Amino acid sequence: MSRVLVLNGPNLGRLGSREPDVYGAQDLSALRVLLAEKATEGTEIDVRQTDDEAELIGWLHEAVDTETPVILNPAAFTHYSYALRDAAKLVTAAGIPLVEVHISNPHAREEFRHTSVISAVATGVIAGFGFDSYVLALSAVGRG
Ligand code: DQA
Repeated sequence: MSRVLVLNGPNLGRLGSREPDVYGAQDLSALRVLLAEKATEGTEIDVRQTDDEAELIGWLHEAVDTETPVILNPAAFTHYSYALRDAAKLVTAAGIPLVEVHISNPHAREEFRHTSVISAVATGVIAGFGFDSYVLALSAVGRG
């Protein structure tokens, strides 16, 4: 059984009720079901969410130690967390794919969202396709 870590940052635990016009009406458990459906046979999808930067960094260290591909929605950390960036770089520097995803298209929104401190150390970036951003990312890591 291979595994993909699907890591979600702050406020994404509120999906479903948070700005549904931007993020849609579905919650994280719907994302879990969708990705489990789309995953290749024998792939376990481990969807997690935290509002805590340290916990998210710990999960990236776990990805390095267990050589597990990562789909990462850093949420607002995208725009300013150099600590998260350094942790993401540990993943890709180890040759493990890390795909940055966003539900919305941050480039079509407020100016502060136009900067990602993560993108330069990610394997690739997928944004603006709703939950399909994660589905595309799963395919990009060869597990969907
Ligand atoms: C987001 C975009 C970020 O700007 C925002 O802070 C989020 C969600 C997205 O998935 O579209 O929390 O990462």
